[in-house]
Amino acid sequence: MRIKELQILVYEYDTVVDLPEADQKLLLAAREAAKNAYAPYSKFCVGAALLLENGEIVLGSNQENADFTDGLCAERVAIFYANSTFPDVAVKALAVTAKNTNGLIEGPAQPCGSCRQVLVETEARYKRNIRVIMDGRKRIQVLEGADNLLPFAFKPNALG
Ligand code: THU
Repeated sequence: MRIKELQILVYEYDTVVDLPEADQKLLLAAREAAKNAYAPYSKFCVGAALLLENGEIVLGSNQENADFTDGLCAERVAIFYANSTFPDVAVKALAVTAKNTNGLIEGPAQPCGSCRQVLVETEARYKRNIRVIMDGRKRIQVLEGADNLLPFAFKPNALG
């Protein structure tokens, strides 16, 4: 029997101005993107901003539907748009934020399981890590790679 311990580095900041400049810019873009959320059912408005390797910033927001399961999260809206528009360009970083009816959530705003799976696939696809910046009123957390969000992920190489 062996016991293995996984370690995840989490960089924590109190406010957006404490972040490195590139992260600040991306997070402010995500906050803008949240304004375009279509969330009449949950009233939970999520914004995502991706920084691509060519310098492009791609935005996404959650898009809901009366048939609840047909909606899509902000992160996947952004990733699928980026990958379909710039199929040869890697994703370098993602910032995500969320507002409820009281404003910015206490946070940090964490991607759901399905978005984590898509982020891990995107890391594998472009063979580079995706920095993740998660917004919150109380704290902002930064991870150096999206794989930290989903240890033991089902990755492309699992198909053999
Ligand atoms: N949502 C996102 O956009 N991203 C996440 O990672 C978590 C959840 C959206 C989906 C739905 O429109 C609303 O937030 C409430 O779950």
